Amino acid sequence: MVKVDTFIPKAIDNIKKECKGKAIIALSGGVDSSVCAVLAHKAIGSNLIPIYIDTGLMRKGETDRIRATFKDMNLQIIDAKEQFISSLEGIDDPELKRKSVGENFIRVFEKEAKELGVDTLIQGTIYPDKIESEGGIKSHHNVGGLPERIDFKSIVEPIDQLYKDEVREVARALDLPEEICDRMPFPGPGLAVRVVGKVTREKLDVVREANAIVEEELIEAFDPWQTYAAVLGKGTGVKGDQRVHGWIIAVRAVSSRDGMTAESIELPWKVLKKIESRISGSIPSVVRVVYDLSPKPPATIEFE
Ligand code: XMP
Repeated sequence: MVKVDTFIPKAIDNIKKECKGKAIIALSGGVDSSVCAVLAHKAIGSNLIPIYIDTGLMRKGETDRIRATFKDMNLQIIDAKEQFISSLEGIDDPELKRKSVGENFIRVFEKEAKELGVDTLIQGTIYPDKIESEGGIKSHHNVGGLPERIDFKSIVEPIDQLYKDEVREVARALDLPEEICDRMPFPGPGLAVRVVGKVTREKLDVVREANAIVEEELIEAFDPWQTYAAVLGKGTGVKGDQRVHGWIIAVRAVSSRDGMTAESIELPWKVLKKIESRISGSIPSVVRVVYDLSPKPPATIEFE
């Protein structure tokens, strides 16, 4: 386990050494990038420019939440929804979806950096992201998902030796709000990995609504490592007196120590039925809700 008392000053020192002049940090509102932002702010103060990209792949209410949380940090919010979603059009291979999102992230940051005259990018990559990318398991949007050509002179990754629970410990030591310290991981490619097959605006709207319901029902009550909804595809159902072809939603809730392995949580039937009825009741295009029992391995946590 990391020794926070020694880790924090050392990390701040390293950032000072590695950042010459201004640096941009890619802020997602999750615990990893928030910890990096605070460390970097302590290291380089107003030379830090935190940027949040609204990719259109974020959870319901996320942009407003981030605006409120980082209101004291000169946060720049960039609306790049069109760019991200139109680039994903027609792609159904999970790795290509990851590459598309990763490429757009970098291109947007490069453009901002050029306009601001900044050549350093700070990222919240953590240790498991690196292992999984290096091992060819998957392309993390912030590691293997990077395109070959990157216009930044340097990329600084202050927490790339830490596991998630260590990052949370550092977050607490830095006095970040509890809500951020305990936040579930959310993948870099966002809701794109919770839409199986081609990503469309309609599927994103459906999955965003379903996800919000699942989070409301399960986070506080069961304290999962992660819980979310994914859209799997279409199936037949009956609405009123009509047979319809509607969306199939999968609900996932897992416990885990570090995301490398995971167990599906044994949820009470009553809770599952309530989630099903809320999702199919409030999203007219959904006809089926299923609960995923699979552990990791053989499944992964995300559906992709
Ligand atoms: P899987 O689905 O491979 O995911 O079992 C393991 C954990 O990693 C999260 N995840 C990501 N985190 N960038 C991230 O920062 C990514 O590209 C990414 N993809 C997956 C996932 O949510 C789970 O907690």
